[in-house]
Amino acid sequence: MLNKINPIVKDISVPGIRVFANKVSEYSNGINLTIGQPDFPTPTRVKDAGIKAIENNLTGYSHNAGLLPLREAVSNFFHEKYGFLYDPYEEIIITNGASEAIDSVLRTIITPGDEVILPIPSYSGYESIIQLSGGKIVTLDTTKTNFIPDPDDLEKIISSKTKAIILNFPSNPVGVSLRKEQIEPLVRLLSKHKIFILSDEIYSENVFDFDHISFASYPEIRPQLLLLHGLSKSHAMTGWRLGYVLGDQKVIEQVLKVHLNNSICASLPSQYAAIDALNNCRNAPENMNRAYIERRDYVYNRLTEMGLHALKPNGTFYIFPSIQHTKLSSLEFATRLLEEQYTAVVPGSAFRAEDYIRISFANSMENIKEGLDRIEAFIYSLK
Ligand SMILES: Cc1ncc(COP(=O)(O)O)c(C=O)c1O
Repeated sequence: MLNKINPIVKDISVPGIRVFANKVSEYSNGINLTIGQPDFPTPTRVKDAGIKAIENNLTGYSHNAGLLPLREAVSNFFHEKYGFLYDPYEEIIITNGASEAIDSVLRTIITPGDEVILPIPSYSGYESIIQLSGGKIVTLDTTKTNFIPDPDDLEKIISSKTKAIILNFPSNPVGVSLRKEQIEPLVRLLSKHKIFILSDEIYSENVFDFDHISFASYPEIRPQLLLLHGLSKSHAMTGWRLGYVLGDQKVIEQVLKVHLNNSICASLPSQYAAIDALNNCRNAPENMNRAYIERRDYVYNRLTEMGLHALKPNGTFYIFPSIQHTKLSSLEFATRLLEEQYTAVVPGSAFRAEDYIRISFANSMENIKEGLDRIEAFIYSLK
């Protein structure tokens, strides 16, 4: 039956992130620096809210858009923290993680032949969904502009076929957050073009050196903007599968049709846990960020000492050093590091950036130190 399968699906490869995570688990002394989730437990009271929901038989379907109290909690969170307001009745959908928000939104807007601009390096979760809808990816290389999209470069690739741009700041894999002076020229440019702006801000609560600014705080792009978000990273809730999408009522009404047909609704116990996370545990990310900052500084210094230059991340829990001088492809680097030093990183090719590797510091200091010792030994073995 294989020849009956959608050829686009057959061409989709397993993301590089997963390949190396799977391989390293085969080594008893392996160190896994590929992890894309917080190494902290979900806060206790959030877990308790989920447990209580199950005990009280709150295990059925909810409204397709999600429980109203949760949509209110999402609305209040963004209003109180970032100052912009989305209507909980008509402008917010609770999804099965940000991943489903990405899927539902992209399938709502893309028709075959549409172009979607993707600044690269880019998180790998967008590409296949665009391709499945018959969309075409147009990349915007940011490696020479400090991993920030340059408005002039961007303007050159916007065409009559452009349907959307996907922005992800703080970014996976680089850990770059944008400052006001970097966001505003992009907002000015995008407001002149009738294209959707999908802003995936799932790492907004993991910003270290200054306050996060959301694209949603600019009213001039509101009709075009869809904010993709969720609790996976901020509240260590990856397995609860809880995300949300916020946007203009007219667009959200359409996204809801795709969401309710693919999911009906998000998991109900997870929705109850999420209400608690947003209403009562807003400082949970701060505790994690303290650890991330200490680890980031350590990792950055060690990499610099061994000649692996990287931008110092000001958000997320990733760092993206260049390996260009080793003359190895990122896949060769990651494969040999795994086979010779039993340490897994993600090759830059998984993010469409060949000369880099992604290291995650969502791991214990002990593992990070050991992993960096091994990377150092590997680098010296190349000399
Ligand atoms: C940029 C980005 N967006 C979305 C996701 C998916 O998040 P979720 O677990 O909420 O589906 C990830 C997960 O790593 C991510 O890095």
